[in-house]
Amino acid sequence: MRRTTRGLALVALVALAGTALAQDKVPTVKEIMARLNKPGGLYPAMSKALKSDSVDWDDIRLQAKAFVKMADALGKNAPPVGETASWAKLTKAYAENARALEDAAGKKDRAGASAARARLGGESCKSCHAAHKKQ
Ligand code: HEC
Repeated sequence: MRRTTRGLALVALVALAGTALAQDKVPTVKEIMARLNKPGGLYPAMSKALKSDSVDWDDIRLQAKAFVKMADALGKNAPPVGETASWAKLTKAYAENARALEDAAGKKDRAGASAARARLGGESCKSCHAAHKKQ
């Protein structure tokens, strides 16, 4: 039962992440942040899944794939504030880390996936917000 509920939640999450893209328009930064980083988003979901005693790699791979799409879309937006060059650099790093996470998930490499996951959070949130989010 638990497993089914979690599976359904995951499908909903991934479907949601795909919606904006299916409409063939680039999701806004706010939409991307909501789907990736807000509570209930892919980032907290993957963080939790990677800490689990028995990692479900099929789940993580699906999540990572959806994450990469959204992370790629981030750099297609203009930054709300701040320098374009800085935005290009930060969004590129973000997308690369997302890809590293997807690659590691493909290899069931827990250490690699966890390291990439860590690079997608913490300081990376703070420094990008400091430079590009209206305070
Ligand atoms: C590469 C840049 C970048 C990174 C990395 C980033 N963010 Fe953001 N985030 C933004 C920008 C820019 C906004 C402001 C969007 C706007 O106001 O249009 C934002 C907005 C947000 C919001 C508010 C969304 C809303 O509905 O107003 C939340 C919550 C958020 N980010 C969480 C996070 C967390 C948590 C992380 C790290 C795990 C993170 N972000 C990483 C650029 C980034």
